Amino acid sequence: MIQVNQVFHDYEGKGKCAVSDITFSVESGSIFGFLGPSGAGKSTIQNIMTGLLPIQKGEVLYDGKSVRHLNTGFFNQIGVSFEQNNLYSSLTGLENLKYHAALFSVPTVNPMELLERVGLREDANKRVSNYSKGMRQRLTFARSLINKPQYLFLDEPTSGLDPKTAVGIRELILEQKARGAAVFLTTHSMELADALSDTVAFLYGGVIAAMDTPEALKRVYGKREVRVVYREGEEERERAIPLDDKAALSAMLTTADVVKLHSQEATLEEIFLRVTGKELTA
Ligand SMILES: Nc1ncnc2c1ncn2[C@@H]1O[C@H](COP(=O)(O)OP(=O)(O)OP(=O)(O)O)[C@@H](O)[C@H]1O
Ligand SMILES: [Mg+2]
Repeated sequence: MIQVNQVFHDYEGKGKCAVSDITFSVESGSIFGFLGPSGAGKSTIQNIMTGLLPIQKGEVLYDGKSVRHLNTGFFNQIGVSFEQNNLYSSLTGLENLKYHAALFSVPTVNPMELLERVGLREDANKRVSNYSKGMRQRLTFARSLINKPQYLFLDEPTSGLDPKTAVGIRELILEQKARGAAVFLTTHSMELADALSDTVAFLYGGVIAAMDTPEALKRVYGKREVRVVYREGEEERERAIPLDDKAALSAMLTTADVVKLHSQEATLEEIFLRVTGKELTA
């Protein structure tokens, strides 16, 4: 489990925090979706969690051990797929994975198998300098899985990928969860976060504005109304009734020729807008 406790970060030391009082945890065998617009502080938190930025205030614990005191053993357990990747462009995709695998002192996954899974089998022996942006992104993602990490950090793993490849990557992410990894997923995509996350946190202006399971967020912030489809003569009509308007609902059910009833569920996108007053756009 990863625990982030009351983390603050002030880049310039002038008393203006980019992120404030951030507290959450990522259980092993779960996916934590970290959502927020550009400038919200996602990378700041991600960098503090992975030790790229020093902790100024608060604590980050990996199975109870502070990130401040982690040694090389930690390196063996972590996988990182960030947007600014540091692939070797003069090496091929396969060579990149082999090189990376050799850095670990734990068993690693067969690089060719991983390339296959991210749709790069045909391009395995091509130099990365000749890879497209999406291909590099897939290679970075594959690389992050090579050591079967216990803690996996993914930054926009499917953005800009075609739907078929994106589905393959989603499946791979779910497999990591299934084998017990704690997955920290940063994204602008509400749809991806909704589909994969056990818990989502909305980061806005450097603070967590809301955090819960996608289902609970929808229940709490969703539109509490029922859509009633009824027949009137030959036509089907539809009417939305607020759930708390029991009189209208009961009148409708007793007098109309009701065909269908369904509760209206809000999307995470709508909920984000409601919680923060802002759209979550990339
Ligand atoms: N090195 C830095 N020095 C000073 N301020 C910084 C630095 N890096 C980030 N910031 C500020 O911290 C805030 C959060 O930035 P951060 O990069 O964490 O956002 P983000 O949520 O990752 O955005 P994006 O979605 O665009 O990647 C922003 O106001 C940004 O200007
Ligand atoms: Mg960022």
